Amino acid sequence: HAGEAHRTDLMTITRYVLNEQSKHPESRGDFTILLNHIVLGCKFVCSAVSKAGLAKLIGLAGDTNVQGEEQKKLDVLSNEVFIKALVSSGRTCILVSEEDEEATFVQPPLRGKYSVVFDPLDGSSNIDCGVSIGTIFGIYMIKDAHEPTIEDVLQPGKNMLAAGYCMYGSSCTLVLSTGSGVNGFTLDPSLGEFILTHPDIKIPQKGKIYSVNEGNAKNWDGPTAKYVENCKFPIDGSPAKSLRYIGSMVADVHRTLLYGGIFLYPADKKSPNGKLRVLYEVFPMSFLMEQAGGQAFTGKQRALDLIPTQIHERSPVFLGSYDDVEEIKALYAAEE
Ligand code: AHG
Ligand code: MN
Ligand code: MN
Ligand code: MN
Repeated sequence: HAGEAHRTDLMTITRYVLNEQSKHPESRGDFTILLNHIVLGCKFVCSAVSKAGLAKLIGLAGDTNVQGEEQKKLDVLSNEVFIKALVSSGRTCILVSEEDEEATFVQPPLRGKYSVVFDPLDGSSNIDCGVSIGTIFGIYMIKDAHEPTIEDVLQPGKNMLAAGYCMYGSSCTLVLSTGSGVNGFTLDPSLGEFILTHPDIKIPQKGKIYSVNEGNAKNWDGPTAKYVENCKFPIDGSPAKSLRYIGSMVADVHRTLLYGGIFLYPADKKSPNGKLRVLYEVFPMSFLMEQAGGQAFTGKQRALDLIPTQIHERSPVFLGSYDDVEEIKALYAAEE
């Protein structure tokens, strides 16, 4: 009964990472310890997010709860949880979070060799209406030759050792790449473990869905406007694409990864660098897309080749199925 064998052979995310680590004999398990602390943060946020609605329901609305404690916004709470988990792992030296203006420099003796860039709660405007939200993270190795400075984290996305996201939706799904493919794990609440449910995710070569905020159409540049026009009125007689836009990057990217298609957050006249942040939104999602056989483009270059100059820098991004991104690259190339 192969089915039986499968059910008892529980591949948890920790076992998966340990298997990966065994391929790097030089590693002393630091990465596994770091990842376990990220997983712990995701489990906490998953639990807090699922209760957020109830908090409103049982009158914890407004700024204080029944204990008179200041009611933390979920993205502030999530940020505190991840900062504390990452510092206490003893494996990090610089932390960059969307919620903190300045980077966190971990002091000895808790300082380690990894830098983590993360968006503790992405899509937070969607919390109250129950739309899926998520956490996005990327991991760099820091050269430990000196006292860490902010320059150590301003590295191109291609230097990332690992990247992933955790989506808090109908189930809690953690999608991770450590540089050799992409795997998806689903939280089994009864075990409190993330179980491998989506082994070796590959994005379809070409998709039938485009994902963009059409409300910004009047501000788009030529190539973006032309590309979206082609999605709606194909010139080669192929069927028009469907539009799916959730407004939560983790949810839009997860659908794109599994179903194929293209996700766009273009530059526009109002925001010439688009809206999404390079370090902890564009890079991790671009890393995952490339690892799954797709690609990611900024309008000027391969997204992972970008070198950020400050930690909250933004960039336009076009990511998803390889062939779909090729089409918009051709339109930008023609523009030059
Ligand atoms: P965050 O909630 O972390 O600030 O990120 C929100 C981002 C991203 O999740 C999503 O793709 C984008 O905002 C949607 O922006 P628009 O509402 O402008 O389309
Ligand atoms: Mn975000
Ligand atoms: Mn956020
Ligand atoms: Mn935000």
